[in-house]
Amino acid sequence: MKYDVIIIGAGIAGLYASLHIPKEKNVLILCKDIPWECNTFYAQGGVAAAVDESDIESHIEDTLRAGAGQCKREAVEIMVNESLQVIPDLISRGFSFDTDDSGKLLYTKEAAHSRPRILHAGGDATGRYLHEFLMRANPHPLIYNVRVFDLLRSGDTCYGLRALINNQINELYADNIIIASGGVGSLYAYHTNSRTISSDIHGICLERGIKLDMMEMMQFHPTVFVDNPWARKQLLTEALRGEGAQIVDESGKRFLLDYDERGELAPRDIVSRAIFDYKKRTGSEIYLKMDMFDEEFFAHRFPNIKKAMKAVGFDLPKDLVPISPAFHYAIGGIVSDLDGAVGGLENLYVIGEAASTGVHGANRLASNSLLEGLVFARRAALKIVEKDYKWNHKPPFAEFKGNLVEKDDTILKQRLRRTMWQEVGIVRTRSGLERALDFVDDVQHLTIGRLLALRLKTARMIIESALARKESVGAHYIINE
Ligand code: SIN
Repeated sequence: MKYDVIIIGAGIAGLYASLHIPKEKNVLILCKDIPWECNTFYAQGGVAAAVDESDIESHIEDTLRAGAGQCKREAVEIMVNESLQVIPDLISRGFSFDTDDSGKLLYTKEAAHSRPRILHAGGDATGRYLHEFLMRANPHPLIYNVRVFDLLRSGDTCYGLRALINNQINELYADNIIIASGGVGSLYAYHTNSRTISSDIHGICLERGIKLDMMEMMQFHPTVFVDNPWARKQLLTEALRGEGAQIVDESGKRFLLDYDERGELAPRDIVSRAIFDYKKRTGSEIYLKMDMFDEEFFAHRFPNIKKAMKAVGFDLPKDLVPISPAFHYAIGGIVSDLDGAVGGLENLYVIGEAASTGVHGANRLASNSLLEGLVFARRAALKIVEKDYKWNHKPPFAEFKGNLVEKDDTILKQRLRRTMWQEVGIVRTRSGLERALDFVDDVQHLTIGRLLALRLKTARMIIESALARKESVGAHYIINE
């Protein structure tokens, strides 16, 4: 059987693309785990969107400034301009962003935005609300527990993929494939991502000659509670700082002002680096201070953070919460054009965090990720429908001979995560990056499972990209020692 379109991933990008492909098309969505194990589900802050026509230029400028001169201007212009289409589209389909009593949309401010322009839902559960809405609206079949481990490429066509479904190897064929599989969270010891986000598809693309770029640009979120016992660390949304929360040291000092006059509202890369540096220099614990909030306001505006932190013993907004930066978002990824198309292939598309569209440059502006997911998902879906690409005869593909069994790779995966955190993190040194490369080399020579092998390929690409970029810019900060 051949599908018209297969979508790998059921986060905001995959589901919004699905919504724009007519019901009559034969579409299949593949979900690695259960559908809500995706980064969209855990997104808190909101969706950045131009408030109206008069805000477009300013949103573009804020995005370019945060991106430290590395954004593709055309991609940024498309994203911001089309925010005025995708947000009304969601609302007209029945999605409710938070509003005031008169029904007016509420916008919050986040770091490096020159005005409040972040729409939110459920207070601090924007991603979950959007995900639930898109799951309900989704017109196409979706299957669970599918581990994609290979793409079937020949020349300029991607004929399908190989996946483990119920422990059986399956080949699935499609005229068009959309990658919407997210970023690389599981490569790092401390991260805010869903457990399913592990860079397998990035590794497959590298094997199949598909280009990735900006992979040295890994974004670390400044305010994360990392002492919970789960793989996914608890994000404390940037919207908290947008509403007035402060970052302080043990003595209550707002030390960020010594680094950047914008303090808590400086771009994410600057705040993360300042925390890292200050902690290293002074040894002080760093806290998020929220006791300036009215209790009732806090419970209404940030109900999920209040609940999640209560479960680990904190009474918010009263208590100080110890924080650390943690890996949050892969800025770089699989290179796509302005319609999500992957260069050199007729029928492969990539959208959302997996893609490198150029909109984020060297540092993503807060809450532009959900927006990017919406805008480029819609563009890719419309392109696929318009182009209507079909292939007739697929070439024979050699049987898969690799090692699919994960063996006992748990310890090696943990060591990889620790190495990436220590050597390929917020502040990098050449010697540290070389140590990380040696580690990857050593493990690549062992007999390991397929999924670890794919992660190592992605890790190698991140490390080599970091070594290749000799100057610090945005999220990539390197000391040449
Ligand atoms: C947050 O809520 O702080 C995360 C939003 C984002 O990643 O842009």
